[in-house]
Amino acid sequence: MSWIIARRRRPAAGYAALLLGLVVVAALYAAVTATGGAQAAPTTDSSGAAAGQKLFITNCSSCHGLEAQGTSQAPSLVGAGAAAVDFQMSTGRMPCSGGPTAQCPEKPVTKTPEQISDIADYIASLGGGPAIPDSQQVSTVGANTALGYQLFSTNCAQCHGFAGAGGALTYGKYAPPLVAATPTQIYEAMLTGPEAMPVFGDGVIPPQAKRDIIAFVEQTKAEPNPGGFSLGRTGTVTEGLLAWLGGLGFLVLIAMWITARRRKPHAIAAAEANAWPTETWPAETPQTPHLPGIEH
Ligand code: HEC
Ligand code: HEC
Repeated sequence: MSWIIARRRRPAAGYAALLLGLVVVAALYAAVTATGGAQAAPTTDSSGAAAGQKLFITNCSSCHGLEAQGTSQAPSLVGAGAAAVDFQMSTGRMPCSGGPTAQCPEKPVTKTPEQISDIADYIASLGGGPAIPDSQQVSTVGANTALGYQLFSTNCAQCHGFAGAGGALTYGKYAPPLVAATPTQIYEAMLTGPEAMPVFGDGVIPPQAKRDIIAFVEQTKAEPNPGGFSLGRTGTVTEGLLAWLGGLGFLVLIAMWITARRRKPHAIAAAEANAWPTETWPAETPQTPHLPGIEH
């Protein structure tokens, strides 16, 4: 026991005790949160609309109402369809964090695919709406990319830009870049028309044409960027701003570097020759002029 008492007085002992305390707290916390997760898991076990309804009440009803009938905060989801739920949740837009007028931004997805599909089942059970497209419907095998480009130019480019890079809309809203969207999400966006985006039903853009558009969007993602570093095609505003701030800052630094470098050789040369070069310094310049930044 005495060796502990002896060591306790050492300066390092305080740090060691602190570290030990932190490790113990971290271990306890990990244990507690792990059991919390295990307790929450069974709710997702039973699949389908019933489980979806429970999840909906906890996560969504504060805005959309207890029966998805809508409130002053958010629209009714009766008839919105499974595709709308899957689109909104798989892109992280829902549960939304903004007010009723704000565009719900994309966020990291916190719900599992099972939870999303359960809520989608529940919303679909309330009354129709577009279903989640299957892999056949969103397949780009054999799709016509050239036609897809034409369809994209006439229907989508006015908001999303010609390469799907996104753009600003009125009232602070924006059409996002399409780089992150999966084929399923592109299809769902056309079916459900999120926010300011119109619905492109099968009467306006038939299923085959939707596949052509998806093929075009997928192709623009795969294309190399001939202009160089693309910033993930975040949009012309971001790229332009970076060029201005970064480029101008770089030029200023270069200018400072050039002028700073030029002074020293002058001073050294002048000190060595004990005279200033006549082409840069007029004759009436004193022998040891004060140059800023140089010690005399
Ligand atoms: C903080 C409030 C809020 C919460 C919580 C919320 N939403 Fe929303 N939701 C909105 C608003 C506002 C809109 C309409 C604006 C928009 O689409 O961006 C919306 C739109 C939607 C739409 C699109 C409706 C359509 O006709 O296309 C779906 C689907 C949806 N929400 C599902 C959900 C689900 C599922 C949850 C729970 C996981 C949820 N929301 C949680 C506010 C919320
Ligand atoms: C009137 C402008 C407008 C037009 C036209 C339009 N969109 Fe959109 N689009 C939007 C807006 C606004 C959003 C964002 C919705 C939100 O945040 O809730 C969006 C979202 C999307 C998304 C989701 C992107 C993501 O990463 O989550 C996809 C995919 C999409 N649009 C595809 C299309 C396609 C394909 C077309 C043409 C058939 C099209 N859009 C036409 C305005 C438009």
